Amino acid sequence: MQDNLQKITSLCKRRGFVFPSSEIYGGWEAAYDFGPLGAEILRNLRNLWWKEFVTKRPDVVGLDGAIISHPRVWEASGHTDLFADVMVEDTITNKRYRADHLIEDATGENVDGSKPEEIDEIIQKNNIKSPEGNKLGKAKYFNQLVEVMVGTVEDAKTSAYLRGETCQPIFYNYELVKDSMRKKIPFGIAQIGKSFRNEIKVGPYFFRTREFEQMELEMFIHPNDAASTFEELKTVSKSWLIGLGIDEKKLRFREQAQKERAHYNKIAHDLEYEFPFGWKEFQGIHYRTDWDLRRHGEFSGQDFTYTDPETGEKFIPHVAEYSIGLSRLMLVLLFNAYSEDGDRIVLKLDPKVAPYKVAVFPLLKNKDELVIKAKNIFEDLVEKGISTAWDDRGNIGKRYYSQDEIGTPYCITVDFQTLEDGTVTIRDRDTAKQERITIETISSKIQG
Ligand code: GAP
Repeated sequence: MQDNLQKITSLCKRRGFVFPSSEIYGGWEAAYDFGPLGAEILRNLRNLWWKEFVTKRPDVVGLDGAIISHPRVWEASGHTDLFADVMVEDTITNKRYRADHLIEDATGENVDGSKPEEIDEIIQKNNIKSPEGNKLGKAKYFNQLVEVMVGTVEDAKTSAYLRGETCQPIFYNYELVKDSMRKKIPFGIAQIGKSFRNEIKVGPYFFRTREFEQMELEMFIHPNDAASTFEELKTVSKSWLIGLGIDEKKLRFREQAQKERAHYNKIAHDLEYEFPFGWKEFQGIHYRTDWDLRRHGEFSGQDFTYTDPETGEKFIPHVAEYSIGLSRLMLVLLFNAYSEDGDRIVLKLDPKVAPYKVAVFPLLKNKDELVIKAKNIFEDLVEKGISTAWDDRGNIGKRYYSQDEIGTPYCITVDFQTLEDGTVTIRDRDTAKQERITIETISSKIQG
């Protein structure tokens, strides 16, 4: 099964899903570029998520905030002081490692959230060395925010941060969104966008990267509604994932222990997927209390007190958060979909997620009448908004295999019978079964 990581990595490169970034310059650690088919999957996921958690919900609105904001945002949010992992350095090579990961590898113990002095003690007790076998230096905190210099005048450049979590613009814009959209508590603000973290340990593959995208929903609520909103977010987020075809047996919620939790969380439940490299988190449901609005209030002077229009009660809204990593979700979906049937690789992606919903082939590429008919079908499907692949190379068997490994649910072949009776062959990716249907019924068949 571990083998699948290599197989998926190689398939993703060979078929244009994911490329190691800047490969012509020797690559760049933990950076990946999403190729044509990866970009389609990400776009499908963004659209599906937005439709489910913004468009369909009258109590949620969207936002698209800045990646670089006022540096005070990150002081108020607590990230400049508290957003840190404990790292240890190899005393010979000076390579840095996440202390909790080294300890977990050596002892199987989860020590995420332990203080540097506790880490030093565990390392000493278990005689843990660096992966190169060298002595480790003293453990210390390493802040994960990525600093940037902005401005055009060399001496007057300002140091700022790339956002360390996508949601902070939601918090500092909370009042503007509430007033402009005439919202009352409870309501939510959602956002999809990039985040950046100076991760000490990256990988495997694009599981943990320094630049990544998150889809986040922040529900602003009365504190009494925290428990019910938290449970609701757990339920709706998990059922959305099951609707994407993820095997429920490979999903589990895990509550974070107090010392594992980020500084802003009072309760945190990770949703984990069983990867070949273990159960790993790819989504979190968090109860952030009034941490964010209270801190932004203190640091900016803005009063975030909310007055309930019916009861007159005054309070600072609390937040229940749903956060899922977009590229990490794509990795889950690739593992969930990868299968082999003899020498045939089949990516059993849900049709909603698959880069192409259907492929259209003329049986022979040098017969104009077949090509024209197939092109008409292709154009008609594209016109209907159905993402459609065109393939006229090699024999039909090879074309089927080629579409199977990129996850195309259906293939349509236009042959000589099509010219006579207006029917085509439609072939199902998962069963490899073929049947003849009329051209008019193609779109309803593939849209299920
Ligand atoms: N706003 C809350 C927040 O950022 P988080 O648990 O740090 O919470 C949420 O991140 C999700 O973002 C994770 O479950 C994961 O899917 C994704 N994520 C976090 N760090 C990541 C990284 N370095 N690379 C890829 N995805 C990451």
